[in-house]
Amino acid sequence: MQRFQQVCEQLKAEPKVWAITGVAGFIGSNLLEALLKLNQKVIGLDNFATGHQHNLDEVKGLVSEQQWQQFRFVEGDIRDQATCQEFLSGADFVLHQAALGSVPRSINDPITTNEVNISGYLNMLQAAKEQQVSAFVYAASSSTYGDHPDLPKVEDKIGNPLSPYAVTKYVNELYSSVFQRTYNFPSIGLRYFNVFGPRQDPNGAYAAVIPKWTSALIDEEQVFINGDGETSRDFCFIDNVVQMNILAATAGLESSEVFNVALNDQTSLTQLYDLLCENLSKYGVVRSAKPEYRDFRAGDVRHSRADISKAEQLLGYAPEFTIGQGLAIAMPWYIEQSKAN
Ligand SMILES: NC(=O)c1ccc[n+]([C@@H]2O[C@H](COP(=O)([O-])OP(=O)(O)OC[C@H]3O[C@@H](n4cnc5c(N)ncnc54)[C@H](O)[C@@H]3O)[C@@H](O)[C@H]2O)c1
Repeated sequence: MQRFQQVCEQLKAEPKVWAITGVAGFIGSNLLEALLKLNQKVIGLDNFATGHQHNLDEVKGLVSEQQWQQFRFVEGDIRDQATCQEFLSGADFVLHQAALGSVPRSINDPITTNEVNISGYLNMLQAAKEQQVSAFVYAASSSTYGDHPDLPKVEDKIGNPLSPYAVTKYVNELYSSVFQRTYNFPSIGLRYFNVFGPRQDPNGAYAAVIPKWTSALIDEEQVFINGDGETSRDFCFIDNVVQMNILAATAGLESSEVFNVALNDQTSLTQLYDLLCENLSKYGVVRSAKPEYRDFRAGDVRHSRADISKAEQLLGYAPEFTIGQGLAIAMPWYIEQSKAN
């Protein structure tokens, strides 16, 4: 926490220009909120493929009018090189979040996932190099560990990718190291492990497990658990991810690196279901129906837990929120959402 606090104080004293792609999405809009609250200037790009105007509207309501004035939004697509070049003009730091997430989506449509996650990423990396930004930080993924059996996951030991999505995120890392070697342009990949928190979309076929189950429980719909319930994840609250992005961008690293972003904690799906029920019961949402177990889902990694010592040592990362603390913060948001819909 110490380094993070120092960095935040420095940024407040000397504001920078941050470029966030995917700014209308879950992680992007949380980065926007945090940076505006630190009085930074932010430019944001999104094509609303999976992001929403209401995420931006919500951030507007959470910051001061003066802070909101420091934000400029560009509606555009990262698959267009000229858009990326223009967008990054004047940026100090880039937080590249735009991508098509979800393993099942990539299995259903590998072509579009490839175009956005690889070609779009390459456009941004190239633009960042040409604009000579101070740091390019991008959303990598724990899916890159694929079938490697070791736990906890250490950055330099990966297995075979299990989905087209995992391939795209791994290719991002390969381009990152090649840009370092070929053009001496370093960049930093953050391998996120199942991030959750306010503004994560509960709707649609590709919703992530926490928002999907939470809204199903609130709406009294059946919850399905893929597999035997023992599949486990290192669920990471969004504020830890915000901390990592800010630390990574300001670290001044001179070589391309990847870092795990999570807690070194492991929660099974059955445990997660119980945790959600427990948290919701505090808001009067009490469900007696049991979850239904069904087949394992193609492309899913069985167990996941992050070794976070590299981020702790090189960046001063000190995650502030456990899964329990994060869920306690996120639940009221989901309750409010369900009332609004
Ligand atoms: N949420 C997680 O648990 C998790 C885990 C690992 C990695 N990631 C990665 O983190 C990043 C952010 O994920 P998220 O959970 O916020 O997802 P999200 O879908 O909420 O956000 C992605 C944003 O990118 C935008 N986008 C998509 N295609 C675009 C394009 N062609 N041009 C411009 N904008 C485009 C979407 O409209 C959306 O606003 C993604 O790169 C994702 O792969 C997320």
